[in-house]
Amino acid sequence: MSGTVLPVIAIDGPSASGKGTIARVVADHFGFHYLDSGAIYRALALAARRAGTDDTDLVHVARNLDLRFSGEAVLLDGEDATDEVRSEDVGNLASRIATIAAVREALLARQRAFRIAPGLVADGRDMASVVFPDAVIKVFVAASVAERARRRAWQLARAAESAKGLMGKEKDDNIAALFESFLGPVTADLEARDRRDSERAAAPLRMAEGARYLDTTNLNAAQAAATVIDWAGAALRPA
Ligand code: DC
Repeated sequence: MSGTVLPVIAIDGPSASGKGTIARVVADHFGFHYLDSGAIYRALALAARRAGTDDTDLVHVARNLDLRFSGEAVLLDGEDATDEVRSEDVGNLASRIATIAAVREALLARQRAFRIAPGLVADGRDMASVVFPDAVIKVFVAASVAERARRRAWQLARAAESAKGLMGKEKDDNIAALFESFLGPVTADLEARDRRDSERAAAPLRMAEGARYLDTTNLNAAQAAATVIDWAGAALRPA
C-alpha cells in the first residue's frame, strides 16, 4: 500500500447478499468512512421519478443531485428520504437507471469523493471493477437466491408489522403470515434484478479480478463481517 493513497475496501455483490451490513461493521471496525453506492442510484431514481424525468434528462439530474448522507439517513433536496429510497419500487427503478452508461459516468466523481482519510469501505456492484479499481482488498459477497429472498422477506415483514403495534404471539403470527405472502414476489423480484444487474453492458455485476469470494448463505452477519475484517486487516498491514 502506498503511503499517500487512501485505502479502500471494496465490497460488491447482488441485492440482499448482506454486503451493506458487512460493509457497515467493517467500516466501524477500522474507523473508515462508508459509501453505500446503491443509495446514490436509488436517490437518483427517486429524484427522477419526482421530477417526471425521461431517460434523456437523467444525466442532468445525476449531475445536479442534491444528496447528502447523515449517519444512516439519506437527505434528498434537504429532506429525509431514507424510507422512500429503500423501498422496493425505488430499488427496481434504480436497477433500470443503472443500466445507462452515461448515468454511471455522471455518478463516478460523486462516489470517488467519499475516499477521505483515514479510508473508505464502499459497497455496490462495481466498486472493485470500476469505481475503486485500486482498492486494497476486493470482496465479492454472494448468497443463494432462496436465502437472499428469505432475508429480504423477513425484513419487509418486520417493517410492515411494526406499523400495526401488535404484541406477543399475535405479533409473531402476523409477521410469519406477512413473510409467507412476501416470499414469492420477493424471489421473483430478486431474480429479475440479478438478471438486469449482471447482464447489462455497462459495469455489470460480476466478481472483479483479484476479488475474494464470500458466500454468506450459511453465515450470520457477524461471521461474515469477521471474515472480511480478517482479510482487510492483513491487506492493510504494512508489509
Ligand atoms: O445495492 P442496492 O440494492 O441498494 O442498489 C440498487 C440498484 O442500484 C441495484 O439494483 C443496481 C444499482 N447499483 C449499481 O448499478 N451499481 C452500484 N455500485 C450500486 C447499485
